[in-house]
Amino acid sequence: MSARSNVPIEGSFQLIGGKFDKAGEASTSLKKKLTEMGLNVEIVRRASIATFEAEINVIIYAAAGWLRYYITDDTLRIVIEDMGPGIENIELAMQEGYSTAPEWARAMGWGAGMGLPNMKKNSDKFKIDSVVGEGTTVEMIINL
Ligand SMILES: Nc1ncnc2c1ncn2[C@@H]1O[C@H](COP(=O)(O)OP(=O)(O)O)[C@@H](O)[C@H]1O
Ligand SMILES: [Mg+2]
Repeated sequence: MSARSNVPIEGSFQLIGGKFDKAGEASTSLKKKLTEMGLNVEIVRRASIATFEAEINVIIYAAAGWLRYYITDDTLRIVIEDMGPGIENIELAMQEGYSTAPEWARAMGWGAGMGLPNMKKNSDKFKIDSVVGEGTTVEMIINL
């Protein structure tokens, strides 16, 4: 049992598609929060990578979305839900190096096609659901 309270801690950030000047704000705020809570640096590092990649994807591909987090004594659960085009072929999208990032995103240094693989790699449980024409939801759990 950790020194944290038994009361789950949760919060959310709104994400706006195309707002690349705000890119990284949500994941940076969450990183700060986790660090302040005294979570292990390795946990914070994995959570930061995973949430940053998910946040950037919403900004590049979707119209808008939410990043929500839930922290209990045992787990950090992060859900990123967007209203966007959805993903037609999830298996393909999950492949390292696959990217449909537009030119403006590539100019920002994004579009290496490593976002989804890195989200999976840095979480203990990873789930992606997508409906074409509606949006995408990524759920990641990191064991604390
Ligand atoms: N939230 C999303 N909505 C729609 N398409 C997405 C979303 N996230 C990822 N994709 C699709 O999956 C591909 C791979 O994503 P990712 O691994 O993050 O690489 P990258 O963003 O560098 O292209 C993207 O190029 C895009 O086609
Ligand atoms: Mg990406």
